[in-house]
Amino acid sequence: MRSSFDHPRRLRRLAVVGGLAATLTLGTVSAAVGGVPAQGSSDAGLTATATGATGATGALKDYDQEIVDRFDSANSVGHIRRLAVNIGPRLNGTPQEREGAEYIGGVLKSYGFDVTLQSWGPVSTKSVAKVTSPNADLPGGPNWQMAASTSAKFTGNDAAVEGRVVYARTGQSAADFPADTAGKIVLMDYSTTASVRNTAVVNAVSQGAIAVILAHPAGNNAPPSFTLTTAQPNIPVMGGGSAHHTWIKDLLDKGPLTLRITTNQYVNPMGTNVIGIRRAVGDPDGTKAPIVMVGAHIDSVLGAPGAHDDASGNGVSLEIARVLSQYPLDKELRIGGFGGEEGGLLGAKAYVNTLTAAERARFVGEWQMDMVGTPYEPARLWALTPNGQSNHVVQEAYNAGARVGFDGLRNCRLGQSDHQAFFDVGIPSSLFIWLDYRPPTPPAVCGPTGGTYVTEPQYHRPTDTMDNISPERLQITLDVVGGAVAHNALNAVTVSAVSDGGRPLAGAPVRADCGNGPRDLGATGADGRLQAVLPHTTCDFTTTVDGRVANERGVSIAGDQAVKMTVDLTKPTISLTTPADGAVFTLGTAATASYRCDDDLAGVATCASTVPDGSALDTSAVGFHEFTVNATDKAGNAADKKVTYQVVYPWKAHFPETMDGKAGSAVPIKFGLGGDRGLDVIADGYPVSQPVACDSGKATGTAEPTVGPGNSKLGYGDGRYNYVWKTDKRWSGTCRTFELKLDDGSSHFTTINLK
Ligand code: BES
Ligand code: ZN
Repeated sequence: MRSSFDHPRRLRRLAVVGGLAATLTLGTVSAAVGGVPAQGSSDAGLTATATGATGATGALKDYDQEIVDRFDSANSVGHIRRLAVNIGPRLNGTPQEREGAEYIGGVLKSYGFDVTLQSWGPVSTKSVAKVTSPNADLPGGPNWQMAASTSAKFTGNDAAVEGRVVYARTGQSAADFPADTAGKIVLMDYSTTASVRNTAVVNAVSQGAIAVILAHPAGNNAPPSFTLTTAQPNIPVMGGGSAHHTWIKDLLDKGPLTLRITTNQYVNPMGTNVIGIRRAVGDPDGTKAPIVMVGAHIDSVLGAPGAHDDASGNGVSLEIARVLSQYPLDKELRIGGFGGEEGGLLGAKAYVNTLTAAERARFVGEWQMDMVGTPYEPARLWALTPNGQSNHVVQEAYNAGARVGFDGLRNCRLGQSDHQAFFDVGIPSSLFIWLDYRPPTPPAVCGPTGGTYVTEPQYHRPTDTMDNISPERLQITLDVVGGAVAHNALNAVTVSAVSDGGRPLAGAPVRADCGNGPRDLGATGADGRLQAVLPHTTCDFTTTVDGRVANERGVSIAGDQAVKMTVDLTKPTISLTTPADGAVFTLGTAATASYRCDDDLAGVATCASTVPDGSALDTSAVGFHEFTVNATDKAGNAADKKVTYQVVYPWKAHFPETMDGKAGSAVPIKFGLGGDRGLDVIADGYPVSQPVACDSGKATGTAEPTVGPGNSKLGYGDGRYNYVWKTDKRWSGTCRTFELKLDDGSSHFTTINLK
């Protein structure tokens, strides 16, 4: 049969949503009070779910998202099972607390952490019974723990008592005992009255019992510790919880039950912490890098497997450690497993006492996880601080929640876990806990006033087993707390996009390739900036604005820093020397095209015209010619420069600028064009003549073609052109300007005074 803890990776995100959906239908926490918004049905859930390893563009996701995608609560569940089931209850100062530390340390070592087991103490003497079965499948796990009475025998580990179990009700009279009690382990109802308990044990011993269990017959009780008025030095006597009572009775109903019992007294034992440290890349000796720490407590209360309280915290810590160990980091990562939390935060206090002032000053924060995923419906995820105030650790968890679409996190006031020890020495810390916490009634607010809470029924009980673990809620804790820790463990990089004019560019999509393909980091905000987190690596950054690409290549990301990309939005410049605009060349003369393009930022990509720079300019045809240079830069900006040059005949005038003539006569206008260019050298509509004032030369009428009076014509001979201009006799006594415009665009004038 498949247990509810099987948690297929593929369905993980789906399961988170499903788990929340279940939460939503039942959500009933108090309304918004004291500045703490309600965690009602509308706001307790994941509203956005990410799927797959790549974003919509096909590029890799940013590191925040990538890391959260890698967290898998199935791994946390595995660690919780090792602690709560394989090891079982881990009372402070017992070998099981140390085994828990060793397990956690072994896992951290396998992730490359330097691991230290820290012994501290001594602590108060512990008297415990370990109850197992050689053949029965014990409910709640194979390792039961009860309270060993100090008035009875401590067997030690080598003299276990093993035998069948009989039930003898209250054990107050011989009739309560089965006939075959001798040689058996006797279960009886625990009484709150000392004399009743004493009588029961005395009676059992006289019946030949080899061990006595007094277990709460009803309710939901932890194993009781008690002494006896009549000491029983020959057999072990122990107190069991009501769950033990129920479980044993149920097993007995099915058939014979054999239990194996050892009782031990650990006199003023030492407690154990496990600390895993992963040094920052740039600070292998651990003297300067910021420290990001997560913590959980290893120990559980007597009798409780402590699956939720607090194997769950370690399960999440270890999964955070696993995923983060895959990245080179410039922050020092510390994973704390503290013993003796249930004894009064003893291990965490011992740990913070070992920190020097310089070390404390390096702490970014401590994210304490204690009870991070019970299926108990009314529980919600809380960030609780000793003073009820938010702090960096809390705020970062809110931010991480926002990144995964979880808006169910709330902040209020509570100590009662290891975060208090860090708070007390000035290290920002918070307790993350799935708890039915009720904030103070308005007008009281969280901070000055704390709330009240109701724990799940399994809390501090033998029933705090794997059934008290919700993989879905563990996953939310991983995403929120683990997401915050990862965000703080990576380098904070401010990527800005500015135009080459220095203007911030909003909405610029930023991509980074840090060696394994392009990665979408998001888009810049209104200030042209984007906050991203990156491991210790080297990345090429790219952004594209208006089709213009900017790069910042080979940026070595070591520590928190800024990366600036300047987007070249300026066109390349073109300087055109030859031909200059309006330049005039004589037909057939040699001229060399000369131009260049410049682009200070991205650099020139292309710079071209019909004639390459340095090649001959075309002067083989008269008239006006356009010359265009096209340039592009490597950012994609384009520019062009267009000029016009003129190619003209080698002109020679064989007529004066002014002359006298007789109206009605033919005036020869002679000129040279450097040879015979044919007779089609005059521009259409030309020559023209126009009346002008003889004194000033100012036009007095409109220009008219010389064809008007008739018979004007062009001829060529002896290396010269001769245009015979027939004047009009009616023009007598006037002055006229004659304009000869050629098909090379040039005009030539003479003014004639007509008699
Ligand atoms: N996991 C609890 C902390 C807790 C439980 C906080 C319920 C809030 C509600 C922790 O292990 C614990 O039991 N702490 C003790 C206090 C400690 C100083 C001995 C407690 O709350 O009684
Ligand atoms: Zn706890």
